[in-house]
Amino acid sequence: MAADLQGKVVVVTGGARGLGAAAAREVVAGGGSVVVTDVLEHEGRETAEALGSAARFHHHDVTSEDDWQTVLEHAVAEFGQLTGVVNNAGVSAASLLEHESVAHFRKVLDINLTGVFIGMQKAIPLLRAAGGGSIVNISSAAGLTALPLTGPYGASKWGVRGLTKIGAMELSESRIRVNSVHPGMVYTPMTAVTGLERGEGNYPGTAMGRAGEPEEIAAAVAFLLSDAASYMTGSEIAVDGGWTAGKTLRELTGGTLPPGNEPQVHGR
Ligand SMILES: NC(=O)c1ccc[n+]([C@@H]2O[C@H](COP(=O)([O-])OP(=O)(O)OC[C@H]3O[C@@H](n4cnc5c(N)ncnc54)[C@H](O)[C@@H]3O)[C@@H](O)[C@H]2O)c1
Repeated sequence: MAADLQGKVVVVTGGARGLGAAAAREVVAGGGSVVVTDVLEHEGRETAEALGSAARFHHHDVTSEDDWQTVLEHAVAEFGQLTGVVNNAGVSAASLLEHESVAHFRKVLDINLTGVFIGMQKAIPLLRAAGGGSIVNISSAAGLTALPLTGPYGASKWGVRGLTKIGAMELSESRIRVNSVHPGMVYTPMTAVTGLERGEGNYPGTAMGRAGEPEEIAAAVAFLLSDAASYMTGSEIAVDGGWTAGKTLRELTGGTLPPGNEPQVHGR
């Protein structure tokens, strides 16, 4: 069942596709209104149009302060107020630190971290004017643990996690909650290019043995946007099939339990 988002007005960045589009669908399913924003004009419009009158699309580069101002004002003009922001837009990158260029490092940080900072800063007065609200920052499992080959991406996602907690401390008196969501490997256009396949058994790196679906992340996002999460701020929710919880039994045993360790049933 969708989280209750009646009366909520939420801006979702990077909402044209993938996790952002799923979050936008979840907002509308919960009775809220959504402004889908993205640099992808065509896909963004299609995603918003499919959601009917409770959704709008606005072109938006999250690295631009002017774009942020316009988008947030647009949300208030269209739907009367702003109660939530999902800072979801992001780019991924995979390379060894020693092969990274400074220019590329800066670019990833600009989109994935500075974009979140600008969004939080610009949203504060509008959320305050609404009597409070909820900011949900999409970090990553790569913002909870060290993943090789994710230099700029991992640094940006650890940064998002920290910024979230600082925002939570600074904004609680304004009744603005700030939390981060940390997806593991989820099947989206971002990860499909790596050859990731969906379905059971296709991602043995997690306890659950599969990649997540965008809707499974969106459910956590919607919960944090809703009043059901009224006592949550500064929290980090891993939605990663157990990836960051520890080593899987398969990894530890190579798939075969040592003799004498077969599961036992104790008691009646
Ligand atoms: N898919 C995963 O496995 C996974 C795991 C952990 C975290 N994440 C994070 O979730 C978020 C969404 O990822 P996704 O998998 O849906 O990826 P995606 O590539 O499918 O979607 C990302 C969206 O962000 C948009 N975007 C990129 N740069 C932008 C900019 N400067 N301004 C505005 N929009 C911009 C893209 O156009 C795209 O629509 C990202 O922050 C990503 O790092 C994804």
